[in-house]
Amino acid sequence: MVERVHTIGVVTGGGDCPGLNAAIRAIVLTAKLEHGWRVMGVVDGFDGLIWPERSRELTLESVRGILPQGGTILGTTNRGNPFAYPVKESGRTVLQDYSRRCFEGMQQLGIDALVVIGGDGTLAIAQRFSQMGMKIVGLPKTIDNDLRCTDVTLGYDSALHVATDALDRLRTTAESHHRVIVVEVMGREAGWIALGSGIAGGANVVLLPEIPFTIESVCGMIRRREAMGRRSSLIVAAEGVKLPGKEAGPEGASRPLSGEAANSIASAICKCVDKEVRVAVIGHLQRGGSPSPFDRILATRFGVGAVDLLARKEYGRMVALQGGNIASVQIADAIHPVRVVDPDSETVRAARAMGITFGDRA
Ligand code: F6P
Repeated sequence: MVERVHTIGVVTGGGDCPGLNAAIRAIVLTAKLEHGWRVMGVVDGFDGLIWPERSRELTLESVRGILPQGGTILGTTNRGNPFAYPVKESGRTVLQDYSRRCFEGMQQLGIDALVVIGGDGTLAIAQRFSQMGMKIVGLPKTIDNDLRCTDVTLGYDSALHVATDALDRLRTTAESHHRVIVVEVMGREAGWIALGSGIAGGANVVLLPEIPFTIESVCGMIRRREAMGRRSSLIVAAEGVKLPGKEAGPEGASRPLSGEAANSIASAICKCVDKEVRVAVIGHLQRGGSPSPFDRILATRFGVGAVDLLARKEYGRMVALQGGNIASVQIADAIHPVRVVDPDSETVRAARAMGITFGDRA
């Protein structure tokens, strides 16, 4: 007998981003209206499988009106890896393997197959489950845009809008006060938001984790601008830039604090140029708010594509955008290593042609 899918589950895991609700809506509408499937909303990442009683059915009514809403109606967590779940025991945090409980939870909820909407961390978990026999497909989302095999991830375009808008606003106040403003954007390992917003927002300096920079080069740019009568400068820095003189922490070391990069860069600049310097850290603003039209459309196409993968029983695969078309790839191929900015790419070259410095040249 051919095993049929009757009920699917939807998980949103990792950091949220605009467009998650649009994706959930697309999955629910396609699953119900095209296939007559039941859809369960798994809450708070995989927590909703570990504790299935928290999860709930998603009806057509539950997804009405959520297309433009930021966040995720399912909740999410970036601290809930079921293979190493942090649990407090006698005042200490110990890591428990709850992966089996997820299989049991799925069974309890009657879920035959799962759509996992996530970035590299969540999809790595999905990949492990897939290897253990769970019927899973992936949908790539992260404002960081650092998954492989897809032209773009869900959420990146919306984050870029926020960061570009911030640059536009900061430029006018920087110009009025003849100041240097250092804007810190998200991106721990990949500088896609910094690069994109730096070009779109006309930044003078763009600092990326992928391109080592020196403060002297950044200050050289500020001085050259001063000499030309340009008394303000806009610097956009990814939070994960390698700060000159600071040793990279060991693998698994705690993340840099929000604002650490921008503040260290600003205080170093203050020491080498006689300018007022200010810092703006836009942080989680980039993850919030309504998705851009591009992300709403992408979420819809990804959602439909993910249900199509399930209908074709193409488990272990992730929907992707390739050359503008919806395609699919092995989840394993998309997650590791993360996709970083190529310093020799055409986009970096275009930025340089606009006079943007990456702090790597005198
Ligand atoms: O989603 C990725 C990301 O936005 C990173 O760029 C950022 O460092 C991180 O999430 C912050 O996540 P949180 O503060 O939710 O732990």
